[in-house]
Amino acid sequence: MSKETTKYAFILGHVPDLSVAEIICLLKKQTVDFEEILQSKEALIIEANQELDVLALQNRLGGVIKIIAILSKTSKENLSENIEEIVKASAYAKASADKQKFQFGFSLYGKTVVKEFQQLGLTIKRELKEQGTLCRFVVSKEKSLSAVIIKKEHLLGQGLDLVVIENQGEYYLGETLAIQDFEAYSARDYGRPSRDDKSGMLPPKLAQIMINLAGAKPADVLLDSFCGSGTVLQEALMLGYKNIIGSDISAKAIADCRNNISWLKTKYNFKIDGVKMYELDVRNLVHKVALATVDAIVTEPYLGEPDKSKLKTQKFEDLENLYLDSFKQFYKVLKSGGKAVMILPIINGQKMEILDAVQKIGFIIDKLGQSERGSIIYGREGQMVEREIFVFVKN
Ligand SMILES: C[S@@+](CC[C@H](N)C(=O)[O-])C[C@H]1O[C@@H](n2cnc3c(N)ncnc32)[C@H](O)[C@@H]1O
Repeated sequence: MSKETTKYAFILGHVPDLSVAEIICLLKKQTVDFEEILQSKEALIIEANQELDVLALQNRLGGVIKIIAILSKTSKENLSENIEEIVKASAYAKASADKQKFQFGFSLYGKTVVKEFQQLGLTIKRELKEQGTLCRFVVSKEKSLSAVIIKKEHLLGQGLDLVVIENQGEYYLGETLAIQDFEAYSARDYGRPSRDDKSGMLPPKLAQIMINLAGAKPADVLLDSFCGSGTVLQEALMLGYKNIIGSDISAKAIADCRNNISWLKTKYNFKIDGVKMYELDVRNLVHKVALATVDAIVTEPYLGEPDKSKLKTQKFEDLENLYLDSFKQFYKVLKSGGKAVMILPIINGQKMEILDAVQKIGFIIDKLGQSERGSIIYGREGQMVEREIFVFVKN
């Protein structure tokens, strides 16, 4: 890949709007100047004014599945020829350098016919073999190759995941440079010593996205006042934050949290001891956290009765009151301009009607996505409790 490449595609997670919001926030924080070239349900393509450190970016972005260097843009007529050129150039460069079998595959996004590409892949493979280049064409049942396949088949670096992104009859071609580290996420989710399946745990990727939406700097003070077993605190440590506070009303949650954080510190050899943890009702937050000292709150509060049969009779009003009490405390501990990135639950389709009251407390909504409420919903069809994600700013 040439050094001047500055066009990149980000393949988005299952809530594309959220992934886009996260990418934009992080690039802005890193003061990268960029222009959006294309945004679809599957991909965001940008042109940046500098080369990006894609590996570092990929590790920070919970909502991005792959990062791709865009090599060219072409029409339907020239598509096969261009693909052939890219694959062969890559094969000649990599197979001869490594003296080993060159493996390649295609990942298709937008409107494309998989069979046509499989045919093309087989033809290219045959031609390469005839010319004496050892190679293998990797196929999958899916339109695009997953991070798992890309890793297993060594398609990064020594191989090639050639990406085709179709948009309104035009085709962007590129090479995957980085993939989500699915093993590390899984280890941080399922491998931690204390899990609390009952009151629910935030997926680490979502915690990472929410922290990025807060846009805080590494030395800033970050708080999760419903920290549970500590997913947000854990991901904040992973992202390099050094002043982290966690609190929760439950003694067990705080014990679990301590256990998980000390496990993480050993696993990743973190030397810092800047994580403070308190057993504390959010309504008493100011007893432990000094006024106007927190830069960002990132939290998934209590989402209602974890027992689904009891959730049906849950008083929504009680939950709304807990949230409003929380906002009053948040207003006190946050610095002016500080952000609260929060989840509000949607239970059986019912949304919390507290936005006017939250604004009266002194917050403005930093709108995410296109929805009227300025939120993005993170959930899957048929879920009893969905997560509505907001960014509030202390006015
Ligand atoms: C959905 S869990 C948070 C899970 C956490 N994000 C994680 O990944 O482990 C909600 C937490 O809120 C805590 N909680 C409930 N009411 C509270 C209150 N009034 N003050 C502080 N924490 C409270 C519960 O103990 C529970 O740990």
